[in-house]
Amino acid sequence: MRDGKFITIEGIEGAGKSTAIQGLQTLFDHHDINYITTREPGGTQVAEAIRNLLLQHHHECIDPITELLLIFAARRQHVQNVIMPALQQGTWVLCDRFTDATYAYQGSGRGLPRTIIDQLKQMVHCMLHPDLTLLLDVDVATGLNRAGKRSAPDRIEQQADHFFERVRQGYLQCAASEPDHFGIINATESPQQVMIQIKTVLQPMLDLHCA
Ligand code: TMP
Repeated sequence: MRDGKFITIEGIEGAGKSTAIQGLQTLFDHHDINYITTREPGGTQVAEAIRNLLLQHHHECIDPITELLLIFAARRQHVQNVIMPALQQGTWVLCDRFTDATYAYQGSGRGLPRTIIDQLKQMVHCMLHPDLTLLLDVDVATGLNRAGKRSAPDRIEQQADHFFERVRQGYLQCAASEPDHFGIINATESPQQVMIQIKTVLQPMLDLHCA
């Protein structure tokens, strides 16, 4: 049983997730919605430690299956300790990435079979599915150009452009397979235009909350 809404934000590097999250926080405040903002990998002390392990550069190569297992280990901590308790209290959860990122990055990007991800998902959060996923879709050149202006690339950001091309296509496949749960946002537009699109997608949920 849960009352809070679970909303996830997805997209490749430089899609504008952080700006969109700020806009969503303002929107939720305006509608008196009780919410928390969190992120993946991360969101708890242990999951944030796993995040550092995943994003730092190492002399040792991290095997794709190891990467996948670390991501789901972090996710289990996050789901059990933060996401589910919040939703059960009626608090909305705004989460920067979730399992669709795993299908896109580890599935389409790294080439791991979808069935392995399905199995881990079943084990880690079989009862939990986002109510809405906002996919900020941007072409790879624009996204990486924006991301490159921010900071030195981490272990995942340093991948070649064709990796992110596969990730983007992976996200679009996720969206195509579940059109009722996804809102695809054209994230090449200005932050103001992106926010207008997001509000349009969210409006039915906000109307229900206010009813
Ligand atoms: P970000 O949250 O700052 O965008 O960075 C997190 C990085 O982790 C990003 O490069 C995507 C990557 N990632 C995966 O590869 N798989 C996942 O399941 C998640 C949640 C993130």
